[in-house]
Amino acid sequence: MLTAKEIKAKKNIEKVSMITGYDYAFAHIEETAGIDQILVGDSLANVLLGYKSTREVGMTEMLIFVAAVCRGAPNTHVIADMPYLADKDPETALENAKRFLGCGASSVKLEGADLKVLENLRNHDIEVCGHLGLLPQTAKNFKQCGKTEEEAERILADAKNLDGLGLFEIVLEHIPDSLGSLVTQQVSAITIGIGAGSGTDGHVLVMHDTLGMHDRKVPPFVTKYADMFDVGVAGVKAYIKSVKG
Ligand code: KIV
Repeated sequence: MLTAKEIKAKKNIEKVSMITGYDYAFAHIEETAGIDQILVGDSLANVLLGYKSTREVGMTEMLIFVAAVCRGAPNTHVIADMPYLADKDPETALENAKRFLGCGASSVKLEGADLKVLENLRNHDIEVCGHLGLLPQTAKNFKQCGKTEEEAERILADAKNLDGLGLFEIVLEHIPDSLGSLVTQQVSAITIGIGAGSGTDGHVLVMHDTLGMHDRKVPPFVTKYADMFDVGVAGVKAYIKSVKG
């Protein structure tokens, strides 16, 4: 299993692959394929549980899915995503981070740049992945972020602050390609892009989007590498046919 240090050492040497994963079976597929990191994202609220917002899940749900992924991919670096309000203050964040690590996660991910919360986690030697740009838990819409000079400067400044606190990795979501490259050049942390151009140190995609596991609209930056929805429908149809026959 890659440690946070080993992942960080890949900067400027090798791109880092990350995909979301939520359960035992698919985590096993992802580990077998050789992924570097699995993110148990709170996007499971949307793609797995059918909620409209990621705010609908809390620690109770996340702990179940993080534990399942760790059982399915015991040799892979698993990142547990802090759900909405689970990181609302330094003490709550620390307590919840410890619960995730207790399930087998290697690190935790937090949206935004609350430096007091992040500093407290780092002071307790917890490996943290940041998340800047579009922040689904608090976003008013899902438009690209960092398009104005002011917004871009804020994202770059936040990234530098996170880097200064020793975060090993930062997810950059839905920002201009040029900003993704600029942040990547100016921090020592690994940058993982999701709609941030090709200049980041690695990439992450939501498993259900990239494996075509649903028939809903996907964000413009998603590439589909499989069509599992169609394969599934065809399989169930064949089963129904044989039952009826
Ligand atoms: O929850 C999630 O899946 C995420 C990714 C989109 C980075 O945060």
